[in-house]
Amino acid sequence: MENLVIEGGLPLRGEISVSGSKNAALPILMASILLNGPAVFTNVPDLRDIHTTLRLLEILGCPCSFRNGRVEVSPGPLQSEAPYDLVKTMRASVLCLGPLLARLGVARVAMPGGCAIGARPVNLHLSALERMGAEFELEEGYIHGKCAGLRGAHIQFDFPTVGGTENLLMAACLAEGETVLENVAREPEVVDLARFLIRCGAEIEGHGSSVIRVRGVRALNGCEYAIMPDRIEAGTFLAAAGITGGELLLRNCPYDDMDAVLIKLREAGMDIIQRADGVLARPGSGGLRGVDVSTRPHPGFPTDMQAQLMALLCLADGSSMIDETIFENRFMHVQELVRMGADIRLSGSAAMVRGVEHLAGAPVMASDLRASASLVLAGLAARGKTVVQRIYHLDRGYERMEVKLQAVGARIRRVPADA
Ligand code: UD1
Repeated sequence: MENLVIEGGLPLRGEISVSGSKNAALPILMASILLNGPAVFTNVPDLRDIHTTLRLLEILGCPCSFRNGRVEVSPGPLQSEAPYDLVKTMRASVLCLGPLLARLGVARVAMPGGCAIGARPVNLHLSALERMGAEFELEEGYIHGKCAGLRGAHIQFDFPTVGGTENLLMAACLAEGETVLENVAREPEVVDLARFLIRCGAEIEGHGSSVIRVRGVRALNGCEYAIMPDRIEAGTFLAAAGITGGELLLRNCPYDDMDAVLIKLREAGMDIIQRADGVLARPGSGGLRGVDVSTRPHPGFPTDMQAQLMALLCLADGSSMIDETIFENRFMHVQELVRMGADIRLSGSAAMVRGVEHLAGAPVMASDLRASASLVLAGLAARGKTVVQRIYHLDRGYERMEVKLQAVGARIRRVPADA
């Protein structure tokens, strides 16, 4: 196990290049299961969740290689079982369910367990696939699905689930006839998946809106595809510029996909300027001020940026009210931020943050991916030394975060936990 040791209080200055998006890469890699020929993916981030996905693809019969952000996948004879060992480390493994049913008519995928940020069931994935002709049983902790060919269907999601939309979109590409998916997720990562599938020969319309139509085709071919940049990583670094009182230029920043985050950061007093060479971020001359925010499905404010914005608001003038409406247990960072001197009160799904003059370094514990990022941000701004423990969560979703931060002046290093 490793820790991050941060000596805080230095304004960050310089340039950071945003990596490929984890949440776009995971479903797009999983879509290889649908293909008749090899595919090449570029701009793939080097992350633990990506390596888990590649291991899963290998087990399912799609050998992969990964070098310098480039993944080559050659689908072969498919296997139908996604084992618990892998699924328990990454919930997104459930994204192989739709593709396996579409290709093989059978899938055995371990039921993802609960996780730190809430129960996160997959009932919406399953009931939608049932509408397409699949049947499911739960056997010894595995979802056992089968179908005699998937049929197009008209499906209305009760909630615009990101993973559910992606699973169904993939399944519908090879189903017989037309599928209409209503109340779907509109996240940019869903759009990136649809673009990839279209490049492979799928017939999809409406991605990015709340209704997607898919006409099933007989087969999909591989292609070469560049994964979109990571809007959550980008947002985290914008917040890093603000919380440290520095100035960062983000290259490869998906500015057009970040409206809700940009609006809130600007409302909180940051200057964010789109330039030809990247996106420049710094606190405005009036300093940081409190804002209210409620997490929502895209195009609303993303839950994956809630913890990082909260860290920033801990040092803003005035009060902020943060309402988390997507996940029921996504405030694990609050008690750790309080240990660093933040003034935060929790009441159900809402957190009231009163800005304080400064944070003080402390040993803190990461509990999930974005909570870890918020603790790193707080550590960068805090006086003294912060030790962030359990950073394996961070490594699931941020590519070489400490290396990128060191390059812009942060005093941050990775050390073995017993050092
Ligand atoms: C994806 C993202 C995650 C992000 C989340 C919300 C990936 C790999 N992960 O997760 O980073 O935080 O979107 O933007 O892309 N729900 C159900 N039943 C279901 C499915 C979901 O009740 O069958 C609930 C969940 O418990 C949660 C909410 O719907 O409360 C949103 O979940 P969903 O949009 O499915 O998130 P994920 O796809 O798991």
